[in-house]
Amino acid sequence: MKYKAIIFDLDGVICHTDHYHYLAWKQLADKLGVYFDETINNRLRGVSRMESLEIILERLEGKLFSKEQKTEFAEEKNVIYKELLRKMSTNDLSQEVKDTLDKIRALGLKLAIGSSSKNARLILTQIGLEDFFDEISDGNNITQSKPHPEVFLKAAEYLKIEPSKCLVVEDAKAGIEAAKAAGMNSAAIGDACGYTLATYDLLTFSKLISYI
Ligand code: BG6
Ligand code: MG
Repeated sequence: MKYKAIIFDLDGVICHTDHYHYLAWKQLADKLGVYFDETINNRLRGVSRMESLEIILERLEGKLFSKEQKTEFAEEKNVIYKELLRKMSTNDLSQEVKDTLDKIRALGLKLAIGSSSKNARLILTQIGLEDFFDEISDGNNITQSKPHPEVFLKAAEYLKIEPSKCLVVEDAKAGIEAAKAAGMNSAAIGDACGYTLATYDLLTFSKLISYI
């Protein structure tokens, strides 16, 4: 086998939270009177919460907010977002994803999460995978978010596996770039599919088995 471990991004790979992010940011944007739509939401993929806020505030040219105000805005969005996450359940984990994860485990590979989200553990609990992964590297243990490689390098360090033996699965171009910067191969799914920096394209999640 080419790899000893697979590091999965969470949002957009294991399950889908984009719409909840969109709804929560939209509420905040409406309150601030700033235009926000699904196209702008797509730019937030893989990007940290504070960086996402900066992208949303770009439209309010010239309007300056203090660091404290921005922290409050991000916290306000997160309260709405977490409330929406409560609607998630094991139904948000597809049979295809679950079966593929089980098959990879049966092959003897290690499995980890490499996500920019500070809500990763909450989401994993909602979908019934709280104890499934060997290691979790997320928004709580990093200082720089994707495309910086930190989140994936931390995952490899936690797993005690050299980066060149890890394969990253990502739906964000920033995540594919982060994998490359970490010295890891990557499999692109969803929005990132077709990105030239990715090692493989995954038209379906179950295809992953054929690349390991
Ligand atoms: C990533 C999402 O997984 O997590 C981004 O793709 C999001 O859209 C980021 O901004 C941070 O999420 P959270 O849950 O910490 O606000
Ligand atoms: Mg993602």
